Amino acid sequence: ANASVQGNPDRGGFATNFGFIMAAVGSAVGLGNIWKFPYITGEYGGGAFVLVYLICIALVGLPLMYAELIIGRRGGSDILGAMRNLAAEGSVLGRILAYLTGGMAVASGFLILSFYSVVAGWALHFLAVSLGAMPDAQLGAEGTFAEVAGSANLSSLWHTIFMALTITVVVGGIHGGIEKLCKILMPILFLMLVALLFYVGYTGGLEQSLTFLFKPDFHKLSAAAVLEALGHAFFTLSLGMGAIVTYGSYLKSERHVIRDGMAIAFLDTLIALMAGAVIFAVVFHAGLEAEGGPGLLFKTLPALFIKMPYGAALSSFFFLLVVFAAWSSAVSLLEVVVAYFVDEWKMKRSIATCLFGGLVWGLGIASACDGNVLDFLDNLTTRYMLPLGGLAIAIFAGWFVSYEDRNSGFAPFGELGKKLQAVWLFTIRFVSPVLIVIVILSKTGALDS
Ligand code: PFF
Ligand code: NA
Repeated sequence: ANASVQGNPDRGGFATNFGFIMAAVGSAVGLGNIWKFPYITGEYGGGAFVLVYLICIALVGLPLMYAELIIGRRGGSDILGAMRNLAAEGSVLGRILAYLTGGMAVASGFLILSFYSVVAGWALHFLAVSLGAMPDAQLGAEGTFAEVAGSANLSSLWHTIFMALTITVVVGGIHGGIEKLCKILMPILFLMLVALLFYVGYTGGLEQSLTFLFKPDFHKLSAAAVLEALGHAFFTLSLGMGAIVTYGSYLKSERHVIRDGMAIAFLDTLIALMAGAVIFAVVFHAGLEAEGGPGLLFKTLPALFIKMPYGAALSSFFFLLVVFAAWSSAVSLLEVVVAYFVDEWKMKRSIATCLFGGLVWGLGIASACDGNVLDFLDNLTTRYMLPLGGLAIAIFAGWFVSYEDRNSGFAPFGELGKKLQAVWLFTIRFVSPVLIVIVILSKTGALDS
């Protein structure tokens, strides 16, 4: 293969394909699955929304996942460098697209991590409260959430601890930090969810919960639900900001992407559904409605946990799971930023990580002190930057990368081959961009009138 495309051998990489898949799954599985998916599913009425969400994963999520894997694995560098390496020779437009998309992706990682860490910090607070480690804090009391979210000091404290955890892992590098963490956390997280499913199978509400999730009632489906589902497909799969490109760039071989992409999307979806099944079982068993809104995880659940058998232990177990999920996602957000400064600006990994981790921490303090800042950054990134980044990456992969590599005979889909590649190329050229444009326009309100 072309040496310039292979990149710098000193940048490290994943030791095994299993390690890579666990890291990518670790990036995907996060607050999006355990906090956001259940509450939006509750708000939009269950089964029909889940079905639309699954269709969005298949039509936009999976094709874009392949686009990012291919760009990363083939470009062999950070998001900006990978795209620049692949921009067809002499294509000024391709290079411009690489710089704009790369720049926005790095900014997205920086901004998302700043508030993601604050929310993860709240989960740390609930973990500490459940373990009885917080004086005066009472689990399940009405005020517990307001106590942490409403306190600039407490929120900042937990945010600081969570950022320190994140920085520590990223300093360790791809193999020594991220791969090691995710190889351990992801299987544990999965087993914990299985255990929770058994627990609610025993305490009750599981049947009702599964019916709610899987029996579609199309009367409840609205245009807003469809748009929410599509937007969430990006966020939950870590797409549109180069996280998957960056991880893909650390793979040594030019393995075919077909199985990896499928595994990452499947596991992320499975874990969202399992988390939803557990959470709604608890909610329904208590005789409550599913429309708890964003407070479902931090207000409704803790109050219910404490009334259940082994309530404090259950709550500790659950919030530990949330912290694990958020931690393995946070490292991927920071890695996008760090990889950019290491690859493009030749900074040392440890320096780039501490410097930019520190800056993210500083910005996060604003979200910890003011919920409006948190909401603003959440909306800015999830509604606009990720879909825009996804659109740019889809257009780049569809129109600016040459798939007839004479040197390496590169075949992203392997022997399964040409037909599948043609289907993917058609989707990424036409179907995905059109759907993404519809989401962006509707979210900006352009389609309202
Ligand atoms: N996929 C993560 C979640 O579902 O919580 C969030 C996320 C992580 C988004 C990393 C983007 C990203 F690059
Ligand atoms: Na996710």
